[in-house]
Parts: sequence; structure tokens; C-alpha cells
Amino acid sequence: MARKFFVGGNWKCNGTTEEVKKIVSTLNEGQVPPPDVVEVVVSPPFVFLPLVKNLLRPDFHVAAQNCWVKKGGAFTGEVSAEMLVNLGIPWVILGHSERRLILNETNEFVGEKVAYALSKGLKVIACVGETLEQRESGTTVENEFQIGLMLFWPMSLCGLLVLERLQLQPRLRKKWFHANISPEVAATIRIIYGGSVNGANSKELAAQPDVDGFLVGGASLKPEFIDIIKSAE
Ligand code: G3H
Repeated sequence: MARKFFVGGNWKCNGTTEEVKKIVSTLNEGQVPPPDVVEVVVSPPFVFLPLVKNLLRPDFHVAAQNCWVKKGGAFTGEVSAEMLVNLGIPWVILGHSERRLILNETNEFVGEKVAYALSKGLKVIACVGETLEQRESGTTVENEFQIGLMLFWPMSLCGLLVLERLQLQPRLRKKWFHANISPEVAATIRIIYGGSVNGANSKELAAQPDVDGFLVGGASLKPEFIDIIKSAE
């Protein structure tokens, strides 16, 4: 059976209350393919999660952009997986490249986070990727898979953030899952792409072999996000 296309909108650290309401209103009015064709998840900053969850159309879902690596407690500034579950937030993005590069999150740390979030029942958009410089100088993605992803399984969703050689990467990743995890997982995992996806290029990208969806940054704040969702058809 074909995997359901996934379109995630990562709003990153953007938005005021009014801007968020406007984005949600645009999403709610958008004519998009039905939920059995495309799964849509938007990820506002933590402070807007309850607002967005309450206002958003029921066929779209919400994700947090991060969560703490274990049970909450004396960890100032952090938000725990338990809190997300308590608020009815079903998804969380973990290991985003910005957190790896700017906040120095390691593969091991991301792997632990993913394992803990899954153990609490959250669905995880796990991000791995590399810069062009890293790709040219070594095997960053292989390391991230082997060190980070081998720590946990099963995973609901893998978001693969690779900026170069898009056509080759999903195939390679699926081979890796086949060899290192199981043929069943390789057959069911969804590998999605992130990096400058927009309304103008999404149709072509969606047609690439083995691309099961997108994690969209900047364009997810704009009305063109509806066009990106439509590219699932
Ligand atoms: O989370 C999304 C990725 O960082 C891609 O962001 O679509 O703005 O390039 P972008």
C-alpha cells in the first residue's frame, strides 16, 4: 500500500498572536486533498501550541518543535514530552539541523530524545542531515543514522533533511533501513525532504522517487503552503 504523503510546516521562531491567527485562518480555508491522501502537521513555537491546536481545522495536526530528553523537573527553559502529551499535542520535531548546529545537540542526545518521546506516545519527526561542506568532507548522515537512529525503534516517521543529491538520498536511506533494521521498517518508513521547499518547486519534488513528504520552513508561513499540500495529489 502506498505511504500517505506527509507535509509538515515548521514555523520555527516566528509569529505574533495575530500573525498566527492569520496563518491558521488561511489553512482552515484551504482546499486540500483529503486526509487519506495527505497528512498535514504544523509546528508553531511552544507558546502558540494551545492556540493553534484550538483554532486549527480537525484534519490538520500540530507538532512541538522540540522537547526535553527525559522526565521534567529542574530543567529551566525546557518543555517535557509529558507536557506535550498532557496538552494533546501528538507530534514533536526532534534533531532539527538548527538545534544541532546552533545549540550543539549531538546524535546521542537526539537519539535519547527520540527514544524518550516515543516511549511517551508522541509521534516523532526525526531530522538528520548535513551541510554541503559536511557531505563533501565525510559521512555525517551515515553517522547520524548509525549512532542516533540505532538507539531507538520503531519510529513513526523519519524526516530526512538533506540539501544535496535529493534523488539519491531517500533510496540510500531505505536501503540502510532494510539492511540495519528490517525489511518491514524499510517498507513502511516515510522519508521526507526539507530544504527550500516552496509552492513553485513542490510538485516536482513530490514526484521524486521515494520522497514521502516535506518538512517546510519559510514557505509554511505563507499562503503557498496550501499549494505545497496540494502537491501530494
Ligand atoms: O524545518 C524546515 C527546514 O529547516 C527547511 O526550512 O524550508 O525554510 O528551507 P526552509
